Amino acid sequence: MTRAVITGTGLYTPPHAIDNATLVDAFNTWVDDENRRHAEAIARGEREPLLHSSSEFIVKASGIHSRYVLDASGILDPERMRPRLPQRTDDEPSIQCEMGRAAALEALDRAQVAPADVDMLIVACSNLERPYPAVAVELQAALGTRGFAFDMNVACSSATFAIEMAANAVRSGSVKRALVVNPEICSAHLNFRDRDSHFIFGDACTALLVEDEAVAVAPSRFAILGTRLVTRYSNAIRNNAGFLNRVTDSDPLAADKLFVQEGRRVFKEVCPMVADLISAHLASLDLDGDALSRLWLHQANRHMNDLIARRVLGRDPSPAQAPIILDRYANTSSAGSIIAFHLHHDDLPDAALGVVCSFGAGYSAGSVILRKQSAHKVNE
Ligand code: COA
Repeated sequence: MTRAVITGTGLYTPPHAIDNATLVDAFNTWVDDENRRHAEAIARGEREPLLHSSSEFIVKASGIHSRYVLDASGILDPERMRPRLPQRTDDEPSIQCEMGRAAALEALDRAQVAPADVDMLIVACSNLERPYPAVAVELQAALGTRGFAFDMNVACSSATFAIEMAANAVRSGSVKRALVVNPEICSAHLNFRDRDSHFIFGDACTALLVEDEAVAVAPSRFAILGTRLVTRYSNAIRNNAGFLNRVTDSDPLAADKLFVQEGRRVFKEVCPMVADLISAHLASLDLDGDALSRLWLHQANRHMNDLIARRVLGRDPSPAQAPIILDRYANTSSAGSIIAFHLHHDDLPDAALGVVCSFGAGYSAGSVILRKQSAHKVNE
């Protein structure tokens, strides 16, 4: 049986960081301006005044301290409150292609693989900057990978769903090497005027190479012991942006064309779904929570991660066991669990087991169970 191994990961981090205090300051300036503009209606009781946001709330409710974004100035301008990303010509590389190229080259470098030796490339993320030609096909040309490429979207679970596609293609023998790339421009789908969610997201791109173990040369790799995916329909996280906006005569700039969620409900419904998924996946491999040295969980809310880890392990995880990166990166959608994996795997000993798990809109959730192994151990 051909075994699929992860041999390299890469991360692109955008140039601008915005801490909570700076974000809240811009939001509160907009709130004050807005309340001044509508002072008479508020005084007549026809309109509720908007409320300030606070850094204390953000840290307490989510664990987020800061986020990286492609453009901070547009987000922090109270007259605009959305990133300013100038339109590019058709002959220029798209933004997601550029982010993807940087992350992919790092993953390939770590795996010691040339782009021309990659047969399959998947761009998997929550928001694609156009329907076609696929960003993945553009990235294929920019990198010089061979074979084929395609885009897919399973919201925050896009990376784990793509890892399953990549691992299956390798196991079946249809490809030797598959690259999964997750360019997330979450700042463009976030409503920075919504107090409940303006702090949630950041931008980043991750990449990960899946190879047939027989051709892998990287000194250290992670064998994919199994993947398990689940979806269950819910409107609790929704975005109505789409190509029909033009013809349904709805307002393409309305708030429902951005990320909208019922955060409390998501928290309550998704945590048990994810804990059950990981536990059942472990059981199917004759393993239990005790076997896991590390949980690289989706990075949306640190309390969600604590709860899920506690249910899977049967006890509180140590900080090293369930690494948190959302404090610095916020929620980077599908990239989050891969950033956690990228930054927190080198220290693991041979044969250590871990799980990459993402969850989000759909609902959707994906579990990927990995075992670390050194090249010399594989070849013995
Ligand atoms: N600043 C200050 N107070 C705020 C605030 C802000 N920015 N946003 C909301 N509040 C207030 C609310 O008005 C509410 O006040 P009230 O108790 O007087 O009514 C209170 O804080 C609690 O609000 P709530 O929305 O219930 O907070 P929460 O504890 O559920 O935390 C989230 C909000 C979004 C951080 C949390 O629900 C969450 O992370 N959910 C899961 C999200 C998720 O994983 N989504 C998946 C996306 S992939």
